[in-house]
Amino acid sequence: MKKLFIANWKSNKTQEEVDIWLESFKPYMDLEQEVIIAPPYPFLSLVAEKIKDKENISLAVQNLSTYPAGSYTGEVCVRNLDGFGVKYAILGHSERRRYFKESHQDVANKIFQALNNGIVPVVCVDQNYIEDQAQLIYSELLSKCIVAYEPLAAIGTGEIAPVKNVTKVVKEIKSVFGKVPVLYGGSISPENIAPYLKVSDGVLVGGASLNAEVFADLLQSE
Ligand code: PGA
Repeated sequence: MKKLFIANWKSNKTQEEVDIWLESFKPYMDLEQEVIIAPPYPFLSLVAEKIKDKENISLAVQNLSTYPAGSYTGEVCVRNLDGFGVKYAILGHSERRRYFKESHQDVANKIFQALNNGIVPVVCVDQNYIEDQAQLIYSELLSKCIVAYEPLAAIGTGEIAPVKNVTKVVKEIKSVFGKVPVLYGGSISPENIAPYLKVSDGVLVGGASLNAEVFADLLQSE
């Protein structure tokens, strides 16, 4: 199976910076790996336009409303994304759980919204709530998720989780969710990525995805 590389830009970048990133990434757009770009909402069209002919590059959102379309001011729901070519949604990232108080139930509701509308959820979990999160997801939906093991202590800190732990948790996640792709995320860089690709199905990258050349280095490290 091809490894998955997700670029999670979080709430970084201006329109001009997105243009620069896409221009710098052009020489790498025909690589073999499966790449998913998750820009902030306002840049979805910009990225979609540039990747539209690229089979191995897809678009993701970083969040979704727990609600369907309706009177929910400020929310972005799955229906709003129609026509943008969004294939994936990163859901339950620890920053959403921490700063926006998303509960396991909220994340489960978002997963339901996504899958009901043809979007594949990339569900972020830490080791201590894998089961609690999974229990709230309809059991028939579990195997339709991609799961990212994101240890809190490793996110944005440079303190990458030991490979041994990642190996163990990837197995644990597969035993709970089924045969789903399991990614690792947290302080991945071109210097440290190699062993993590051996024990996971890919990586969810924050900081090292902000620069196109650095992200391209990750893709070439296999
Ligand atoms: P990081 O972020 O690569 O900057 O640690 C990872 C993430 O938040 O998914």
